[in-house]
Amino acid sequence: MKFKEEFIEKLKEAESILFFTGAGISAESGISTFRGTNGLWNKLKPEELANFDAFLKNPDRVWEWYQYRRKIIKNSKPNPAHKSIAEMEKLFDEVVVVTQNIDNLHRRAGSTEIYELHGNIERNYCIKCGRRYDSPNFGFDDVAPKCSDCGGLIRPDVVWFGETLPQDVFASAENAAARCDICFVVGTSAVVYPAAYIPITAKNSGAYLVEVNIETTEISSSIHYSLLGKAGEILPQILKIVKSIKQKK
Ligand code: OAD
Repeated sequence: MKFKEEFIEKLKEAESILFFTGAGISAESGISTFRGTNGLWNKLKPEELANFDAFLKNPDRVWEWYQYRRKIIKNSKPNPAHKSIAEMEKLFDEVVVVTQNIDNLHRRAGSTEIYELHGNIERNYCIKCGRRYDSPNFGFDDVAPKCSDCGGLIRPDVVWFGETLPQDVFASAENAAARCDICFVVGTSAVVYPAAYIPITAKNSGAYLVEVNIETTEISSSIHYSLLGKAGEILPQILKIVKSIKQKK
């Protein structure tokens, strides 16, 4: 793949880079996206599953859905896109991942500075006393578990519709967006706010925006450089060019 010269120049100058990622980066690991062809929200109703009231009304049904997703995620592996991002930590002063994904694949790939805006499916907590249950193997039963301290219902530590994002995580992500030199927007439809403010903040603070997606999105018109294709194919090529730039320095 031949990248445009302007992008290569930006890569040469950049010290801090940020990856804003969404479900599309994990598609090649076998995890369904939400929108688009085969998107989860085409087949399922988010208001019946990813919602606190739905959980209170039918905890087992919601738990079973998360248990199903946990199993898929547990059996999946980081793909070359996640791995390339992790490897870039060796090549830039700062590499930050801001993800909307709850699948933990960035961490499993080796990234170390990760802001999970929508939580993490491997973490859980009691809705009554707040006690945490953070083992990746927790909750593989069909029935919603109860807290061993207080008997309260245990829920996955993910952001549901109508809930606010973890404010400290979002603030840190916004700060990282404001100081990055290049912001890569990878595998996201960029329609869910406030998460989708991250690339806007980056751009307003002077960052160069690069989109990696198999199709154009809501944010494509605001992007400096759009790379159409699969994240698992394009990110390794970006890594390769960065390595060659750094070797020449
Ligand atoms: P979406 O499902 O909305 O968008 C996935 C994007 O990935 C689409 O733009 C696809 O074109 C693109 N895509 C698919 N396969 C790809 C590939 N191999 N390489 C590159 N791009 C690919 O997912 P998100 O934008 O992450 O929120 O959705 C945002 C939020 O909506 C989610 O975090 C979730 C959902 O409701 C909550 O659960 C709070």
